[in-house]
Amino acid sequence: MDYWTVGLYKKGAFSSLRFHENHKSKPLSINKTEKEENALFLAPFVATPTSVVRQMLILADLQPGEVLFDLGSGDGRAVIMAAKDFGATSIGVELRDDLAKRALNSIQELDLSEKIRIIQKDIFTVNLSTANVVFLYLTTSANEKIKPKLEAELESGTRVVSHDYEILGWKPLKVDTFCENPKLGYPSHTLYVYKR
Ligand SMILES: C[S@@+](CC[C@H](N)C(=O)[O-])C[C@H]1O[C@@H](n2cnc3c(N)ncnc32)[C@H](O)[C@@H]1O
Repeated sequence: MDYWTVGLYKKGAFSSLRFHENHKSKPLSINKTEKEENALFLAPFVATPTSVVRQMLILADLQPGEVLFDLGSGDGRAVIMAAKDFGATSIGVELRDDLAKRALNSIQELDLSEKIRIIQKDIFTVNLSTANVVFLYLTTSANEKIKPKLEAELESGTRVVSHDYEILGWKPLKVDTFCENPKLGYPSHTLYVYKR
């Protein structure tokens, strides 16, 4: 089964702990899962600050009942805010097993399992045609790699909001400079909003 659910996770069905041959009872490390090994790793985990996530969802004009995808959803903060504060249904796609689990723990604690799904898979294997909003925090070169997929699968009217990295060749609807701490004048973030 491809979709990670809280229930299955709690039953331990997807444990990624591997054991050293000579010390079978003692886990030595958390190795990459097969899915992680075979995928194109697009960007390391760096979380978008929550005030920036909120601004991105406002700029994307996310509405109750809409479907948001976060491609590379990390610890789940964007999908959680989208569901909790904007009334969306959200789907996080995250390659890293540990981050997918972390997101699922938070979702379960907040009792949001009905509104959020975490798919522990490579972005390239997930169909995006149901998205109303796509949330991105990858890199410009990663955006370049997923651009053909976005162009092929996103319905007309879908908004794409990208933290700090543009999508080359697409004309943004808005470019916003958002300052986390206006008193200090930094850190500031460039937010790109596109509409298909
Ligand atoms: C910069 S982080 C962004 C996390 C989150 N979206 C946020 O803004 O807080 C990028 C994430 O993409 C994930 N990632 C990288 N390549 C991926 C792939 N091919 N499929 C799914 N996730 C991927 C990384 O593990 C990481 O968690």
